[in-house]
Amino acid sequence: MLTKSIPLTFAVVACAALMAAGSVMAQGQEPIRPIQAAKVTAPAKVELGKKLFFDPRLSKSGSISCNSCHNLSMGGSDNLKTSIGDKWQKGPINSPTVLNSSGNIAQFWDGRAKDLKEQAGGPIANPGEMAFTHELAVDMLRSIPQYVSEFKKVFGNDKLTIDEVTAAIAAFEETLVTPNSRFDKWLKGDHKALKSQELAGYKLFKASGCVGCHNGPNLGGNSYQKMGVVEAFKTTNTAEGRSAITGKDADRFNFKVPTLRNVELTYPYFHDGSANTLGEAVDTMGRLQLGRKFTDTENTEIVAFLKTLTGDQPKLTLPALPPSSDKTKRPHPFE
Ligand code: HEC
Ligand code: HEC
Repeated sequence: MLTKSIPLTFAVVACAALMAAGSVMAQGQEPIRPIQAAKVTAPAKVELGKKLFFDPRLSKSGSISCNSCHNLSMGGSDNLKTSIGDKWQKGPINSPTVLNSSGNIAQFWDGRAKDLKEQAGGPIANPGEMAFTHELAVDMLRSIPQYVSEFKKVFGNDKLTIDEVTAAIAAFEETLVTPNSRFDKWLKGDHKALKSQELAGYKLFKASGCVGCHNGPNLGGNSYQKMGVVEAFKTTNTAEGRSAITGKDADRFNFKVPTLRNVELTYPYFHDGSANTLGEAVDTMGRLQLGRKFTDTENTEIVAFLKTLTGDQPKLTLPALPPSSDKTKRPHPFE
């Protein structure tokens, strides 16, 4: 067996080398660009935003923070079909990752927030999520002397407004990028960064048309597309997609194409969280978006490629949150 397998191994290696040589030439034209590391220009603002991102006192219960549903130890998502909100409420839709979200054209599945700052105000006051109000959130922060002085230091005034809160959170989120994935290393010319199976997966990803919607540095995030182009997507989830914003019937079931960066970490998949595994998601995409049924080998190759998109996860020191003062209103977890 061993002697027989030697020529085969050589053949595979030679073949991979040829494929790699071909791809070197084409790299300048690849439809996907590497992710750039974040440049931190306002470190104090980022640090404040990090505290706010982790602070559960921005919720009515005092126990739900942004990190509850966008867990930075788990790829910036919660790995649940749909999120759990205040009083264990069932969320309406799957929580997208916050990693690399600064690279998206807009925020939310239907793009209803134009940027991270506009987005960050939403969950605090959403009764199904953190169930607080912007007034109560600001009152809470103003009652904590360390927050007061930190906001003053960062924004140069004594106001401490919700606008400043969301600006700081957005500044932190802008640092949550994940460079140096193996695929990015390959894009930058390190031919050994991908194994032949993964490279075959990337070729299939391009040749079969996935790249038509999943392109750019985020492999997605830059357009709205129909879920169910060739074959209808069946779901009991009531989200209607872009039409909820535009009012146009043609936009029904158009969703912001999710990024495929770190997709290995952000299961389950789709806006309704209905696909538990990457293999299932790839199979569904092939059939519904492209009218193509992948063989098991093809599916495995694409999945192997998708797993090379996991980049360096943000390296964070857990922030020490300033203690509540005697004046800070206490949370109401059970009311
Ligand atoms: C209870 C769970 C929950 C909490 C808490 C929560 N989120 Fe989310 N987040 C979600 C869900 C679900 C969505 C998708 C909603 C939609 O698209 O309609 C979302 C969407 C987002 C997005 C958009 C990402 C994209 O690619 O479209 C960002 C950014 C985000 N949240 C940041 C935050 C921040 C910042 C906080 C804290 C202030 C926060 N979230 C709190 C569940 C949560
Ligand atoms: C016509 C545009 C289009 C094409 C082509 C396309 N996708 Fe998608 N993809 C989307 C949209 C839109 C979603 C979100 C659908 C939803 O959640 O309802 C998505 C979701 C996904 C997801 C789940 C991501 C997540 O975080 O939930 C994966 C994985 C994926 N696509 C992979 C692929 C692969 C692999 C191919 C090629 C076989 C492909 N896609 C082809 C538009 C497309």
